[in-house]
Amino acid sequence: MYTNIISENRGVVQIITINREDKLNALNVNLIQEIGQEVARLNAEKNVRGIIITGKGEKAFAAGADISEFAHFNEAEAKEMSTKGGKVFNSIEQSEIPVIAAVNGYALGGGCELTMSCHVRIASENALFGQPEVNLGVPPGYGGTQRLAQLIGRGRALDMLITAKSIDAITALNYGLVTQVVGLAELLPTCITYIEKLVGKSPLAIAEVIKCTNALYENQDGLEFEVDSFARSFETPDFKEGTTAFLEKRKPNYR
Ligand code: COA
Repeated sequence: MYTNIISENRGVVQIITINREDKLNALNVNLIQEIGQEVARLNAEKNVRGIIITGKGEKAFAAGADISEFAHFNEAEAKEMSTKGGKVFNSIEQSEIPVIAAVNGYALGGGCELTMSCHVRIASENALFGQPEVNLGVPPGYGGTQRLAQLIGRGRALDMLITAKSIDAITALNYGLVTQVVGLAELLPTCITYIEKLVGKSPLAIAEVIKCTNALYENQDGLEFEVDSFARSFETPDFKEGTTAFLEKRKPNYR
């Protein structure tokens, strides 16, 4: 069904693997669209509780947008690439099912941007994050300037963006870019366990949490958005089940 990614179901978990190991999983235009299609499908079907995005092999999550593909683009083609790809990255950020980046090596340029569009980043010890675009004569084009500043603060973001320097997993942890660093062999099991633990939480409430948190960055009144979201939730079956289960001293059973 897909040529650049592998999508594998493991019960409540879906693993999307970027499958261009010989090119360090560089993100070509079609590959990004395939990720977008798969995330859209999973959101429509709502059969899984979490999505993991990772890279094939032990060396790279994704070493950036595919330089050989865009090297000859003109302004109009670059705009289309950035706009269409950016929509996919936004759709990952807006996914109502949590998306975890399992960062297994180089996460450079578009690779780093892809991790930042995910809700959670967990890294292996060999992970390396960077936005080296200024080496190529361009700024980032998939939201890197915006999301890096949101996640680690403007000062640290500009330091990385201006110098093109990469940071290792421990520095990323100190910066708050990732929330956990584990050995490479533990990376996927850790991400799978993370998602499996969400089974006891309300999927509707998790979706609302994602929407409310995103509202802060979407020129919306986040506090007002949260009031509406909170109120809306009182009409959901999840609210009834969650509160009833608490009062009946049992575990909730969310559908
Ligand atoms: N786009 C296209 N191809 C890429 C790529 C990218 N972003 N990153 C790596 N590749 C390809 C290489 O061209 C090479 O292909 P080849 O075997 O056909 O020549 C293959 O992946 C392996 O990469 P290589 O450079 O030989 O590996 P390395 O271990 O020596 O170096 C990096 C690893 C990550 C330091 C180096 O590949 C690199 O600098 N990549 C580009 C990073 C970048 O600028 N990303 C931002 C793009 S916007």
